[in-house]
Amino acid sequence: MLSSFTSLVVWGVLSFNAFKTVLCANSFAGSNLYYAAGLRSDEREALLSAMNSAGMKVLRVWLDGQSTTQKGTNIDPFPSLEPTTVCNGDTSCYNDTVLVRLDEFVVAAHAKGIKLLISMHSFNALSGGDVYAQKYTTQGFYESADAQQAFDARLRHVMNHVHTTLQRPWQNLSDYIFGFEAQNEAMIGLGQSYIQAHTQWQCDRAGVIKSTIVPQILTMTGGESWMDESVQPGFLSCAAIDVVSIHAYGVGDYATSAIQTYIQRAQSAGKKLIMEEWGACYFDTENNNCPNGNALSVDTRNNNIKTWAGQITTAGLSWLYWQVIPNTDPHDGSDFEVGITDPGWPVLKQAALDTLDSPAAFDFSDYLL
Ligand SMILES: *[C@@H]1O[C@H](CO)[C@@H](O)[C@H](O)[C@H]1NC(C)=O
Ligand SMILES: *[C@@H]1O[C@H](CO)[C@@H](O)[C@H](O)[C@H]1NC(C)=O
Repeated sequence: MLSSFTSLVVWGVLSFNAFKTVLCANSFAGSNLYYAAGLRSDEREALLSAMNSAGMKVLRVWLDGQSTTQKGTNIDPFPSLEPTTVCNGDTSCYNDTVLVRLDEFVVAAHAKGIKLLISMHSFNALSGGDVYAQKYTTQGFYESADAQQAFDARLRHVMNHVHTTLQRPWQNLSDYIFGFEAQNEAMIGLGQSYIQAHTQWQCDRAGVIKSTIVPQILTMTGGESWMDESVQPGFLSCAAIDVVSIHAYGVGDYATSAIQTYIQRAQSAGKKLIMEEWGACYFDTENNNCPNGNALSVDTRNNNIKTWAGQITTAGLSWLYWQVIPNTDPHDGSDFEVGITDPGWPVLKQAALDTLDSPAAFDFSDYLL
């Protein structure tokens, strides 16, 4: 529908804004790296240079500590922000190592035309038994008022962090930070009906984020497991949410026509969508179930990357790949990664460059470098 000129004209009649947006804005691509704070400077430069050569504009990062090699990347270990206890706003209790590492990263990224999207906690850490799970249990984390208050204090601690060299708080770094989200894939282990019943949790966290940051930074949801789970009606109706993040690995969710039904819903609600996580499995298992298997042929895998990226882009969505990594992919389990020295990289790079000439359903141009 978005590629049809007739539709553009109809939209133009209905709303000047929609007309302008669709006519003028193009999409963009980017990537994820949950352990970015652990990168050594040579790896960081290699990743950012490769992303820059692909025209990629956003890198999504997490704050959970990492102590060992990840995806073949030899990292400098770093602790979690709240390594031993729930800090509940006590500034001397947080370990800011991850924030200080990202201070350096965000400056290097800016020099390459890339902003960071900051995911301030992950369901992975919670379900892995972190300090919040120990104190409140996984479900209690979402249901207890005390847990919500303590978690909001964490969110504020992150957004109030004063950048080491820029001497400005992150909440104000709109020239470096694309968006903030409370948690990667909030509640996913608890199931779609639980998520649907607890969209207010997400909306309340978004309210805290929105009330803290400058309006030139986006408030986002952090995604769920697939398209329909990610695009909750309760997210679309929440005033504080700017962008509903889609995470999708099932191939059906990459179909252009399927994506467009969600685009229409979001446009009606005045929200933006982004394909915040998607990937092409390295193995011959189902794309959304990729723990191991036989390697696909290079041609087949490359064709999957090209086809699915093309379908998402044609639908009008900007996207972040899961994940571009700064080294040759060792093909550990759940392997969607593409290393910048791997045969998949030139294909992913071209797909990313193609987004820059492709009409977007949602205009992010005010938020990009
Ligand atoms: C934070 O973590 C680092 C790295 O583990 C450690 O060296 C440092 O002492 C910690 N700082 C605080 C305030 O706990
Ligand atoms: C936010 O940044 C702008 C410049 O980008 C500056 O004028 C303003 O004082 C900053 N506010 C804070 C609280 O740092």
